[in-house]
Amino acid sequence: MQMLQLNDTGWAKTYLIYDQDGGKAAIIDPVYDHVENYLTTIEQMGLDLEMCIATHTHADHITGCFTIAESVGCDYVMWHSTPSLGVTKYVDEHSQLQLGNEKISFYHVPGHTEDSMLVVTSNHVFTGDFLFTGDGGAGRDDLPSGRMRAHFDSLKVMSLLSGDLLVCTGHEAPGVEFQTLSWNRLHNPVLKMSNYSEYVEWQNNTTAQLGYVSKIKVALPANLFGEIPEEIPWL
Ligand SMILES: [Fe+2]
Repeated sequence: MQMLQLNDTGWAKTYLIYDQDGGKAAIIDPVYDHVENYLTTIEQMGLDLEMCIATHTHADHITGCFTIAESVGCDYVMWHSTPSLGVTKYVDEHSQLQLGNEKISFYHVPGHTEDSMLVVTSNHVFTGDFLFTGDGGAGRDDLPSGRMRAHFDSLKVMSLLSGDLLVCTGHEAPGVEFQTLSWNRLHNPVLKMSNYSEYVEWQNNTTAQLGYVSKIKVALPANLFGEIPEEIPWL
């Protein structure tokens, strides 16, 4: 599977995955602000968009999934327990979605949100805000439906996956490069923790430095109910 990160600005990452031979594509975690650019890129690449996937209900941006799924007529995919409306295809641990010659599978990793999932292809794992690269550790657990203990327990799921997978996360600080899961097993502190109290200390320290999520009051209702406000304060 080919992969392209689409966002030039902001810290959120959006991924286009596609099967070069058949031209079938999926977009993972599109941001509403950039939807027009995504659609232009997909058209210019001659790809056929089959699905939008959200790794979880985002609190820091409005998802582009509603808008893209409606304008292209493709599926909107999320974990089956999500409270978000507008989803057309609910997946669980048994789901395998075909994209051209490739299969996409899913793992439930609650903690950052209850509906967080991993999206796994033959060569990538898309982690959303469940896991970041290296020192980035893991996403915060203090947002609605976040549970610190669940997040720590979910980290065990990473041991089921091949170390060769490239880890593609929902946010990275500027300049952070993609690394494999094997590399992250050596360099990501949360993957090396064996006891919960160590994780609690790391998570509390990290969250204390992050501050308030500035778009939460607009983004969360939009992402849950599919109602994009007429006036978006940052656009
Ligand atoms: Fe998030």
